[in-house]
Amino acid sequence: MNATTTAAAKPAAKESVTLTDNQNNKAVNLPLLPGTLGPKVVDVRKLYAETGMFTYDPGYTSTGSCESKITFIDGDEGVLLHRGYPIEELAEKSNFMEVCYLLLYGELPTEAQKAKFEEGVTRHTMLHEQMHQIFRGFRRDAHPMAVMCGVVGAMSAFYHDSTDITDPRQREIASYRLIAKVPTIAAMAFKYSIGQPFVYPRNDLSYAENFLHMTFAVPCETYKMNPVLAKAMDRIFILHADHEQNASTSTVRLAGSSGANPFACIAAGIACLWGPAHGGANEAVLAMLKQIGSKDRIPEIVKRARDPKDDFRLMGFGHRVYKNYDPRAKVMQKTCYEVLNELGMTNNPLLETAMELERVALQDDYFIQKKLYPNVDFYSGIILQAMGFPTSMFTAIFALARTVGWIAQWKEMIEDPAQKIGRPRQLYTGATKRPYVPIARRA
Ligand code: ACO
Repeated sequence: MNATTTAAAKPAAKESVTLTDNQNNKAVNLPLLPGTLGPKVVDVRKLYAETGMFTYDPGYTSTGSCESKITFIDGDEGVLLHRGYPIEELAEKSNFMEVCYLLLYGELPTEAQKAKFEEGVTRHTMLHEQMHQIFRGFRRDAHPMAVMCGVVGAMSAFYHDSTDITDPRQREIASYRLIAKVPTIAAMAFKYSIGQPFVYPRNDLSYAENFLHMTFAVPCETYKMNPVLAKAMDRIFILHADHEQNASTSTVRLAGSSGANPFACIAAGIACLWGPAHGGANEAVLAMLKQIGSKDRIPEIVKRARDPKDDFRLMGFGHRVYKNYDPRAKVMQKTCYEVLNELGMTNNPLLETAMELERVALQDDYFIQKKLYPNVDFYSGIILQAMGFPTSMFTAIFALARTVGWIAQWKEMIEDPAQKIGRPRQLYTGATKRPYVPIARRA
């Protein structure tokens, strides 16, 4: 099989790739589709119909699964854009509610649009009171991600009036409900795990402030909001809001492609995010930094990470798409200093270990050759721990922030006229057809 690219002969002609099956003397012309940014994609949709062959790409390392206008990543240059806006600018100049609007609707809101959107989301922050009973059914030591998976999925049993995915108004209400209630659910999962009473949302607070309040306030005391920490929380939410077709987002799209309701789809995304190769990495980074203990052990740890016979990996390093510094990690590092400074914790041993580990790894041949740089998870755990969150809440906070990205991608998919149920095929390598063997005759 050979592939050759044909540049357009006339301006009107589209570029295409010709795939030749030498053995069967067959050729098929596959269109090349350009995006506004990023590499072209080979449109293989007619490949099976015309050749009887499938493409094979486990892990989807060369596969574009959909067309999207939401987020763009240039992994080689370390660029991340939401609707065209660089993540660094959004983190510096915007706020999470505005970024939510941008992801969902495609443009930055006017003041009136922002006020209306915030009001629309904020009025949905409370959970149906009966949902509190669901929390009480979990063990106290349940992981917050296990609780979130269950409770978010259970939303479809409570909010029937927003599960008709063919109705744009219901889709919008479901979106607002998810964005508004996920912080409440995450905070309740935390409160339940430590045996404290649930704290109801306060709609006079910003999105980030409200989450901090529901997490750390207790009914018997007045909770004093620290604006530096609230700003850092908001920035952490922005940095995690969306990241194009990653594993959890693709999970949400795949679940949604069957017509499943949005609450079920987001629960599926939460389940996928939980894995240590994805959102669970921030928890693993902190465990790794604690395990390293002191800077002297860094060479030994880096040696283990390089050893092909050892499964150990530096958590918070490497990325499927970024082959350069993850732009979110840079903002996260800056936020880390701000938070530790505010809390008088600049001599934090974990931060010192992290910075030294980063320095050593970035000079190491193995990491240079494999283009392994710190990712978004590398510094986030240190910040979250300094703010008072237990490690088990780290991935729950990631899920909370990513909910808007999942919804924006789900909404885009539902509104795409080319949308079909996601149904990949396979390269079958199992037994060929054979007759059933009665049990008495089996060896
Ligand atoms: N430490 C040491 N070696 C690594 C690391 C690492 N963190 N990451 C990748 N490598 C090596 C692999 O061993 C592999 O080496 P090989 O070619 O000799 O076999 C090579 O780099 C490529 O790695 P893959 O696993 O094939 O790359 P992939 O794109 O599939 O994986 C992933 C990306 C999962 C993020 C990987 O880098 C990793 O496991 N990192 C640690 C976990 C982590 O931080 N995850 C968070 C990702 S960001 C997010 O989800 C928000």
